[in-house]
Amino acid sequence: MSREPQVIKLKDYQQPNFWAKKTELTFDLNEDHSLVTSKVHYQHNPGHDRTLTLAGLSLELVSVHLDHEDLNLDAMDYSPEHLSLKDLPDTFALTITTKIYPQKNTALEGLYKSNGKFCTQCEPEGFRRITYFLDRPDVMSEYRTTIIADKSKYPILLSNGNPVDSKDLPNNRHQMVWHDPFPKPSYLFALVAGDLGCVEDEFTTKSSRKIKLQIFVEKENLDKCDFAMQAVKDSMKWDEDTYGLEYDLDIFMIVAVSDFNMGAMENKGLNIFNSKYILANPETATDSDFEGIQSVVGHEYFHNWSGNRVTCRDWFQLSLKEGLTVFRDQEFSADMNSRGVKRISDVKVLRNSQFVEDSGPMAHPVRPDSYIEINNFYTSTVYNKGAEVIRMIHTILGKDAFHKGIDTYFNRHDGEAATIEDFVKAMEDSSGASLKQFTHWYHQAGTPRVNAELSHQDNKVILKLQQRLPMTPGQSDKHAQVIPITTSFFAKDGKAVPFLYQGDTKTEHVLIFDQGEQEFVFEGFAEEPIPSLARSFSAPIHLDYQYSDEQLIFLMTWDNDDFNRYEAAQNLAMSLMKKRQQSPSYELPDEVLTAYKSLLASKTLDPRIKARALSFPSIDYLVSLEQEANIEAIFETRSWLQESIGHSCYQELWDAYHQSHKQDSYQLDAEGIGNRELKSVCLSLLLATGKEDSVALATSLFAKSNNMTDTITALNELSHVNDPRRQDAFKSFYDKWSHDQLVIDKWFALQSSSYHDHVLAHVKDLLEHKDFDLLNPNRVYAVLRQFARANPKGFHHSNGEGYQLIADYVLKIDKTNSHIAAMLANSLSQWRRFDKGRQGKMVAQLERIKAAEGLSKDVYEIVSKSLQ
Ligand code: PHE
Ligand code: ZN
Repeated sequence: MSREPQVIKLKDYQQPNFWAKKTELTFDLNEDHSLVTSKVHYQHNPGHDRTLTLAGLSLELVSVHLDHEDLNLDAMDYSPEHLSLKDLPDTFALTITTKIYPQKNTALEGLYKSNGKFCTQCEPEGFRRITYFLDRPDVMSEYRTTIIADKSKYPILLSNGNPVDSKDLPNNRHQMVWHDPFPKPSYLFALVAGDLGCVEDEFTTKSSRKIKLQIFVEKENLDKCDFAMQAVKDSMKWDEDTYGLEYDLDIFMIVAVSDFNMGAMENKGLNIFNSKYILANPETATDSDFEGIQSVVGHEYFHNWSGNRVTCRDWFQLSLKEGLTVFRDQEFSADMNSRGVKRISDVKVLRNSQFVEDSGPMAHPVRPDSYIEINNFYTSTVYNKGAEVIRMIHTILGKDAFHKGIDTYFNRHDGEAATIEDFVKAMEDSSGASLKQFTHWYHQAGTPRVNAELSHQDNKVILKLQQRLPMTPGQSDKHAQVIPITTSFFAKDGKAVPFLYQGDTKTEHVLIFDQGEQEFVFEGFAEEPIPSLARSFSAPIHLDYQYSDEQLIFLMTWDNDDFNRYEAAQNLAMSLMKKRQQSPSYELPDEVLTAYKSLLASKTLDPRIKARALSFPSIDYLVSLEQEANIEAIFETRSWLQESIGHSCYQELWDAYHQSHKQDSYQLDAEGIGNRELKSVCLSLLLATGKEDSVALATSLFAKSNNMTDTITALNELSHVNDPRRQDAFKSFYDKWSHDQLVIDKWFALQSSSYHDHVLAHVKDLLEHKDFDLLNPNRVYAVLRQFARANPKGFHHSNGEGYQLIADYVLKIDKTNSHIAAMLANSLSQWRRFDKGRQGKMVAQLERIKAAEGLSKDVYEIVSKSLQ
């Protein structure tokens, strides 16, 4: 970095000097460059200075007109990054023409080309790569967009809102005009031009309006849109049924593109998706791909209210739209599928990414106070912890009050750019409750540790809770938070005990734990019960309660909360691993094996809950729980656990595998998905033994599979095996799918996450493969992020070569796409959690990156904070 980049602070927020009322855009799209003319009607903001400073990025200025006057550029204050005018009147129109180069845009922000199509990505600050603008979310204006392009190459021309005009022009060109009646910030602007096929459908809203639904994809992919289209209709219906929220334009469009930095983008009326979250059929997509599509389609659609109709005042409020929308998409998926399974998946994501982030140098509150590059704050803290915070409000206020609060929020702020305070106020006003102390969840970083102890005397149970919030960068003085702890108690017969608490008798209660230390007293217990705490993961905390293994087995068998049953299994696994670490001769006792066997044999339990109970905490999560983790010991004991269960329950796992394996029929429904997931977990435990017939089983599943889920299950197992069958399987997979980019991403990803001894050499070969493309984010993720995040064995090899490889690529990719480079750099940020040897090697790479010439501010922010 040549100079220290500027730190943006929430406390410096000020309204703009001018508001943009109407924005008229004309895009003249060409093969070498494109011309963009923006005519914006500005209005002075009373009490503010009369200087207008517009943001730009890599722009070439062609001309400026102030009303009708052609301004002399030589006398103007501008650069590729800004344009400034002084002493302006109350109202005026400013017309600016810029020249841009979409074909050369590898950052994938602003206007760029993907696979022959023009497309845009403007959130958070991409619009300034198109024209000089007040590129900030509190400036909302009405857009009218004219797109002009070659008619044969770009027959489809799309933008936000409704089509209002189209005509042919000389030289085989044509134009299309779009008008979006809803004022919006520039980050929601979108444009697409290309030769695309379209799948069409219709949705009738609750007030009987007919909405045209369109999904645009490359023509060869038209047969892969049905599932996404169904998800659109389901989302529209769900938001009406759940929140009374109806879609507002007459047309809703989705475009799938293959080069996209993130998952998808909620541009008004024209969502743009990473094709990974649209294209699917059972031959090409796994069950988890389908789940991803449903939740991302839902997520972007739900943004139409939580994000677009009510947007964010500034980027510090990002969680206002993202936390709320993640909560909404989680609930949508829970309603469409199994609620318990969904909760387990969501908590897994939270623990594996947010808890890890929260325990390292990038820890920040759900509402950060400062940033250098806002792109670095699209984090699991803002998204997933943000959703947990909304969920806790739901839990504390109850469903009805929560829904009333949501109504108030949308009614009050429709058409506005709001803040997190506005949201909280709407919740308080409609429920009558105070959320003052609760708001610490938005401002304090770190994962609270809650310690629980139980005592029993004369019919009473006393639950003593203590909370502690660890220090995080820049925050040492922490306040007690309001933590909802949903609690039940179980008796020896496996039933939930009814208890008396504050005058009511019930079997479950949400305790509001809001002091450093607090005691809760419950009555009605002849015997000491087993507590089931923080049911359904009622708060994003680490909960410490000293259960014996016997009690964990009891809860794993009897708890009627799916999540806590899974949680008991997780805790049991951790306790067994700890015992093994403490004494290397420790072996699994019979009670434990019996518990796993009866779990597998259960006729009533959902196969997916069985599968989850038999999959153990991730290495990254286990590392994040330690001060200085001994990663070798963690690997060793985790493998020991899998291998021991594999050996001792071989027959039971073999039987469960075969019972779940419905060879000829494929169903994409709860039963089919459940069977495939259980089958996969059984196969993995069987292969943990290394026995020949388990390898043969995986090989035969691979050979006979009629769907991508089973194929990937088998290929994943074979990827770890040192055997010619591994190479054969990868080769035949490649030969079969080399035409399908999304499937080939899986081929890359499985090799990068393999525990094969030569994985580093394999990854280096993949980086040289003819299909590897440094400019395609999905491909970079499949190889490099997969290696750095999903292959702790390869990445953390004690020779440090994994770290060096990632650092090499951070520096390479930073030259073309700093956003992706920063995400990759982040995988080195957890260095403090490791032993001294690894620490030194990770720090050396961070230092090397930091010292590089011309580093982007994205990467600079990650590495400099990591080293602090
Ligand atoms: N706003 C998008 C979402 O959450 C995410 C996104 C951010 C996409 C920035 C692109 C760029 O759905
Ligand atoms: Zn979002």
